[in-house]
Amino acid sequence: MEHPIAVIDFGSQYTQLIVRRIRELGYFSKLYQPEELRETGEPAAVILSGGPRSTLEADAPDIDFDYLVSMGVPVLGVCYGMQLLNRKFGGEVAPGNTREYGPATLLAEKSIEGIFNDLEGHSQIWMSHSDTVSELPEGCQVMGTNLDGIPVALKWNDRFFGIQFHPEVSHTHEGQKILQNFLEMGVNLPKFKIASFKDELVQRVRDEVGERKVVCGVSGGVDSSVLAALIHESGVDSRNIFVDTGLLRKDEAEEVASLFGEVGIEIETIDASEKFLSALKGVTEPEEKRRIIGRLFVDVFFDAVGEDVEMLAQGTLYPDVIESATSGSIASTIKTHHNRVDRIMEMKAEGRVLEPLDELFKDEVRELGRVLGLPERVVGRHPFPGPGLAVRCPGEITEEKLKIIREADDIFIGLLREKHWYDSVWQAYAALIPTKTVGVKGDERSYEYALSIRAVTSEDAMTAEWVHLPYELLGEISNRILNEVDGVNRVLYDISTKPPASIEWE
Ligand code: XMP
Repeated sequence: MEHPIAVIDFGSQYTQLIVRRIRELGYFSKLYQPEELRETGEPAAVILSGGPRSTLEADAPDIDFDYLVSMGVPVLGVCYGMQLLNRKFGGEVAPGNTREYGPATLLAEKSIEGIFNDLEGHSQIWMSHSDTVSELPEGCQVMGTNLDGIPVALKWNDRFFGIQFHPEVSHTHEGQKILQNFLEMGVNLPKFKIASFKDELVQRVRDEVGERKVVCGVSGGVDSSVLAALIHESGVDSRNIFVDTGLLRKDEAEEVASLFGEVGIEIETIDASEKFLSALKGVTEPEEKRRIIGRLFVDVFFDAVGEDVEMLAQGTLYPDVIESATSGSIASTIKTHHNRVDRIMEMKAEGRVLEPLDELFKDEVRELGRVLGLPERVVGRHPFPGPGLAVRCPGEITEEKLKIIREADDIFIGLLREKHWYDSVWQAYAALIPTKTVGVKGDERSYEYALSIRAVTSEDAMTAEWVHLPYELLGEISNRILNEVDGVNRVLYDISTKPPASIEWE
């Protein structure tokens, strides 16, 4: 049996990204906690990740170094991992006062055999650290420095390497090549295949659910649809619930029911739109809106399925895990919202929440959906946030505003599909700007809302770029919205990147 390449998690927010990059190179990799080193079996290689702590702290995460050496495989330490290895080999690390975060230049010493083979060798790298290596043990070679001559890459021996930058982030321009060079030192590299990964996930669902009944909340989005299909495939006892919050897009409830019907998955729809809209009446503060929606969603959901629900399935993906910093990882908290409410956290603590997609990124979930036989119309869908149109309707939510957003969004998305832009865009939508401005309609002055349309490309929603849609298309979208949607007299195209903007308006 092939053993995955082991990535040891010291808590960096990028750790799972290393796993993903390895999958992109075609190899099978898994994340382990430092104390699980012996459970990695016989991996072809081991990577020690970065982390937010200092190796100099008394209770800093550690590794069983003797065992690591005895494994006889190539080892790469990244940031924290490199500092830890340097100390294990007898070198020193000095505390830093501030965290160095951002781009730097790698000057690679290419004559030294190892992870820099065939590199251009003078390229951008991405740093994120405070401590630095201050003393090298005997026999350690410096494989690369930054422009100030500070070592950023070390080779302790033919199998042990360290880098003081993140090869997994796209800002490290030769990062993928460095990972590939490192992995190629391993023997019997395990291949990653989505079909066998699917089998593994099906088994995980069966093992975690057992004889219990699992309830799955579906939204029509890619994640929950793939989740429902995976559960369906695993044959466990399940029920799919779809809550109509009244914050959905035009005709969405009907469309979701028919798409699921096509693939033989039964769903139960609960129309709770009136409840949501009356609870949101007069509320303008974005976090308050989210809170109301989150709580009500859980209430409606549990009213429908009963208090004694044995197990709950959630389509949590890896980016959600790091953004909400859930249990099981030492990743630092970045954001605390995203559909997480107390009740579910309680169930989670009791091992009653099934989240089989939590190691995957969106494009991998799509691929999994295809392997599970879901139609392209489902797997290719743009992401849609849990709080729905509420995050596209700043200020008070009213039926009038929602109707405007729905109609405009329908025209916009319809045109993106018709002009073959839909699939090359990560996410697109219309949002209402809650300010009325003056215009002219016919012979009269109008006083109506402005609308923003937004289309972005993104890698897993952590960063985003606006899409350079052709002027002609933007013109057509604007004309159609202005002509066909009552209550709007201005259309703006949002050209903000994330950061500093977010993808949604809130
Ligand atoms: P932001 O606006 O934070 O969005 O740049 C990043 C991605 O997350 C989605 N999003 C949400 N999804 N609940 C969700 O389930 C939320 O509260 C929420 N807010 C944003 C957003 O659509 C984008 O894909």
